[in-house]
Amino acid sequence: MRVLVTGGAGYIGSHMVKVLLEKGYEVVAVDSLERGFRNAVDDRAKFIEGNLLDKSFVEHIFSSDHFDGVIHFAAYIAVGESMEYPGMYFENNVAGALHIIQAMQKNSMNNFIFSSTAAVYGTPVVIPIAEDHPKKPESPYGESKLMVEKILQWFHDRNNMHFTVLRYFNASGASLDASTGERHAPETHIIPNVIKAASEQSTFRLFGTDYDTPDGTCIRDYIHVLDLCDAHILALEKLVKDGGSYTYNVGTGKGFSNKEVVEMVKKVSGVDLQVEYAQRRPGDPNQLIADATKIKTELGFEPKYSDLETIVKTAWKWHLTK
Ligand SMILES: NC(=O)c1ccc[n+]([C@@H]2O[C@H](COP(=O)([O-])OP(=O)(O)OC[C@H]3O[C@@H](n4cnc5c(N)ncnc54)[C@H](O)[C@@H]3O)[C@@H](O)[C@H]2O)c1
Repeated sequence: MRVLVTGGAGYIGSHMVKVLLEKGYEVVAVDSLERGFRNAVDDRAKFIEGNLLDKSFVEHIFSSDHFDGVIHFAAYIAVGESMEYPGMYFENNVAGALHIIQAMQKNSMNNFIFSSTAAVYGTPVVIPIAEDHPKKPESPYGESKLMVEKILQWFHDRNNMHFTVLRYFNASGASLDASTGERHAPETHIIPNVIKAASEQSTFRLFGTDYDTPDGTCIRDYIHVLDLCDAHILALEKLVKDGGSYTYNVGTGKGFSNKEVVEMVKKVSGVDLQVEYAQRRPGDPNQLIADATKIKTELGFEPKYSDLETIVKTAWKWHLTK
């Protein structure tokens, strides 16, 4: 089976390329390299550099090759940046996806897997968050992802497009051999930032200690990037076999607090990291924890690497290679 991975030079996409290859898939990766890295893409994959906003480029990809499925990661991903530049997010995340969907339709290809996010839910009114939780995104980033979800539903209803939406919670960790890992610039995610502070022996700023949680710091559901890739494989196999339209949360159903993350980085790195406790940042909910029952029941998804120690160990090992 031949699979197109968009955003294949990014953090999650580069791991996905590798996992697909290891499972025997043929892989074509496309990326503008604006926020990705050419050397993160496994050499066994075919790589095409280009921007999905260029509609004729996208049409050319689909008119000159055949794909049994498409895994669409390419997007801008920073919530804060999206608040500052909403147009940039709607254009890249919505138009980029639409170009792919239209080119697939035009060339009679189906099976689209979409990287969505827990940010579509906004501040949770119930924990854990199930797929039918109300959707009230609080940023253009979250809204752009919800817009694509709705577009996909219309293409399913009107044109029989088969798709799976995967709403990730916090992707984290690195490959077991430390050949690929998380490289965002700027980095907004807590685990790589705590690791950076530990390796530079600098002070880590932890925002908010007065949340309504057992230790007062925010709680998040971390999913190891390899488990996330496994969820995509399961989703793709089902889509190719049965067709249809599906939406799943991808998380573990268990949360770790920011303090627990800091303590785990201290333990794994052996560095007695200095922490400065700062005021809450606006818009950070107390807890974001997935109800992951649906993906476990329907796809048989079982995370293998998503305990905090394995996540931090793999991320630390990767960091040391940089
Ligand atoms: N990292 C997380 O915790 C997380 C959580 C929820 C959802 N997601 C989603 O997962 C996907 C991948 O996230 P990531 O962390 O790997 O991000 P990333 O920034 O590392 O990777 C995204 C890749 O897409 C490429 N790209 C962006 N716009 C493009 C365009 N118009 N044309 C071609 N290439 C383009 C970038 O160059 C980059 O390599 C995103 O869609 C993101 O919204 C990520």
